[in-house]
Amino acid sequence: MLHFCREQQGHKRLPRNFVQRIAQPPPLVADRARRQKRRTARNKDRRVTQANDTPNDLAAFWMPFTDNAYFKAHPRMLVAAEGMHYTAADGHSVLDATGGLWCVNAGHCRPQIVEAIRQTAGRVDFAPTFQLGHPLAFEAASRLAMLMPQGLDKIFFTNSGSESVDTALKIALAYQKARGQAGRTRLIGRERAYHGVNFGGISVGGIVGNRRPYATLLPGVDHLRHTHDPARNAFSRGLPQHGAELADDLERLVALHGAETIAAVIVEPVAGSTGVLIPPVGYLQRLREICTKHDILLIFDEVITAFGRVGKATAAERFGVTPDLITMAKGLTNAAVPMGAVAVSRHVHDTIEGSGPDGIHLFHGYTYSGHPLASAAAIATLDLYVTEGLFEKAIELEDYWADAVHSLKGARHVIDCRNIGLIGGIELEPRPGAPTMRAMDVFRRAFDEGLLIRTTGDIIALSPPLILEKSHIDRIFGKLAEILAAVD
Ligand SMILES: Cc1ncc(COP(=O)(O)O)c(C=O)c1O
Repeated sequence: MLHFCREQQGHKRLPRNFVQRIAQPPPLVADRARRQKRRTARNKDRRVTQANDTPNDLAAFWMPFTDNAYFKAHPRMLVAAEGMHYTAADGHSVLDATGGLWCVNAGHCRPQIVEAIRQTAGRVDFAPTFQLGHPLAFEAASRLAMLMPQGLDKIFFTNSGSESVDTALKIALAYQKARGQAGRTRLIGRERAYHGVNFGGISVGGIVGNRRPYATLLPGVDHLRHTHDPARNAFSRGLPQHGAELADDLERLVALHGAETIAAVIVEPVAGSTGVLIPPVGYLQRLREICTKHDILLIFDEVITAFGRVGKATAAERFGVTPDLITMAKGLTNAAVPMGAVAVSRHVHDTIEGSGPDGIHLFHGYTYSGHPLASAAAIATLDLYVTEGLFEKAIELEDYWADAVHSLKGARHVIDCRNIGLIGGIELEPRPGAPTMRAMDVFRRAFDEGLLIRTTGDIIALSPPLILEKSHIDRIFGKLAEILAAVD
């Protein structure tokens, strides 16, 4: 059996006779039984008994947003998960302080969700939602609509956050055309924004590295200034006090391009992937007012903020600002099956659906929109959030969490700490000449010592499952303090 060890260099290889073996005719039953016996014996001494914890070859999988060469020389493999923890391939337990990738809000492998998926897979593996339907998609949509701010009760299903963003942008354009404002084609994003990786998302997004290789992107896009202002707001607890006026940047773009050319503005209420940027007090309200004044749609990208991350079903609810569309994914199914969604205001929906003669009005959709397994997972997940009161739990823990985040003020390398809900951002001073490497060292060391964090640039971003206890918070920040003291 091949076991990974961190010192191993180079890619894994398939066994020499692999191709010949898979080309063989199926083995006789007796052969199969013998092989099964041998396999069982081999598995007996495994510490982790997942069937696929030791792939023979790491070369084929081109990993997303990963230094592939480094990973394949130093694989850190996760093979099982439960509650607040992962199990690594070498058997060590890893406390998950990132909810997978901001997505496992209810903790790992929750039996209710697993069972809902299992049962659905045996009953209706797939059913199209183009001109047909199946009950689970409708139920999931109704349940989700109930969690959305009032009026945003039309749900379009996608399979990811990136698809949700591109769907929302297309709906915004379709709406403007349907109401006779076809000249409103301009989309406004914001610097430092992350809206996934599809062409719409990277066009309105503001992370330079994600945009630069991909040529001209969508035309007619502009960007607001970002709100990150450490000079005035460093070590803010909760919402920073300074920066509401940065919303006025939209007035600048209106003056520059003309309101009659602008379809929509998209922002993350709290920006996660770009380093935990919390909106200044009053900023989102002001943005809403300016959008309303100029009849521009406001889209909140809530792919990370929805489903309790900020203590409410949505950041819109938490901050008391209602956009026209909300994009979601991640926590919608607790990440057990990929699914995203866009919640759309009834007005926007009815304008599109009421346009033109009978027939299809929105020419958009995915084969897997409202997939049965994803719908089942969503229903079970949304139930769990309610029955366990997880959004309320996030609010209850918020102060304790904030204290822990800010306890790192004064720790070696730390130049800012930020928090909201159960989100934490700890910004490190970059290593001279080697930006991002200090945070990466913290990440690797933390993993090896049993703690999963996420880093973006030189910022540590934390977003644990909402089921965590105070003792987990103590462990997360105790370990981080220790590692920060130790890394150069
Ligand atoms: C705000 C936001 N939008 C969109 C996305 C993209 O989601 P996905 O990776 O599911 O496509 C992300 C992912 O982190 C996100 O944080």
